[in-house]
Amino acid sequence: MDLCSNRFSMLLLVSSIVLSSFIVSTCAGNFYQDFDLTWGGNRAKIFKGGQLLSLSLDKVSGSGFKSKKEYLFGRIDMQLKLVAGNSAGTVTAYYLSSEGPTHDEIDFEFLGNLSGDPYILHTNIFTQGRGNREQQFYLWFDPTRNFHTYSVIWKPQHIIFLVDNFPIRVFKNAESVGVPFPKNQPMRIYSSLWNADDWATRGGLVKTDWTKAPFTAYYRNFNVLDSRSSNAFSEAANYQINALDAPGRRRLRWVQRYFMIYNYCTDLKRFPQGVPPECKP
Ligand SMILES: *[C@@H]1O[C@H](CO)[C@@H](O)[C@H](O)[C@H]1NC(C)=O
Repeated sequence: MDLCSNRFSMLLLVSSIVLSSFIVSTCAGNFYQDFDLTWGGNRAKIFKGGQLLSLSLDKVSGSGFKSKKEYLFGRIDMQLKLVAGNSAGTVTAYYLSSEGPTHDEIDFEFLGNLSGDPYILHTNIFTQGRGNREQQFYLWFDPTRNFHTYSVIWKPQHIIFLVDNFPIRVFKNAESVGVPFPKNQPMRIYSSLWNADDWATRGGLVKTDWTKAPFTAYYRNFNVLDSRSSNAFSEAANYQINALDAPGRRRLRWVQRYFMIYNYCTDLKRFPQGVPPECKP
């Protein structure tokens, strides 16, 4: 019996509401319970009694999974360890999405690279079926050596992307200036590992080296704090829940200054008539 289930049985004895919200916030989910493997056959696998999941890609196919549940607002954490070695041409997408032509979407995409060259973390937000809100970053660590935590805080007021609890991007609700905001359509969590060597690495110049296949990425410690576990949501989701406090703003500035490599909000070539309204402070 692992630590979580031990605590859980103690909890049943104590049966305290306060404790139960604590448990929700400290015990990661189980991949068997929370996710379906959706494609790629046995290239997608769950191990360790549901504590670890892996996706792999070979010349024939990639693979993917999606959450059984849909979520509307909350904080969603997942730890990922990305494809190591020569991952050029591969893309690991990890995202939230609703369905249909006017869907909303919150995207992390990890663009692989040659050994020793940096991954790009590509982010985007779709509202009512429209995206074109890309921001890209290098990471301040090697994302293939260890697991790191990638999180989304989704509130009616804003969406915050975090990496190891450092906010890297904030998308504010800008409905007041006519920009739709994701707030009515529940989303599922998806991930897939696939080949995109026509564009992913150095704009498509570097192709996938299939002699290195299969390429594998790992997932663990999935955790959701949603409005149904509202105690946990407010206690454990910490300072980034409402708006960023001073340390949060400092971290965001640090990431944006040293690690951001593309921001649609400053791309005047792309938007000669002026950048989209949500970009204005
Ligand atoms: C890969 O490495 C090259 C050379 O350092 C860099 O220009 C590029 O941004 C890196 N990332 C991707 C995904 O192409």
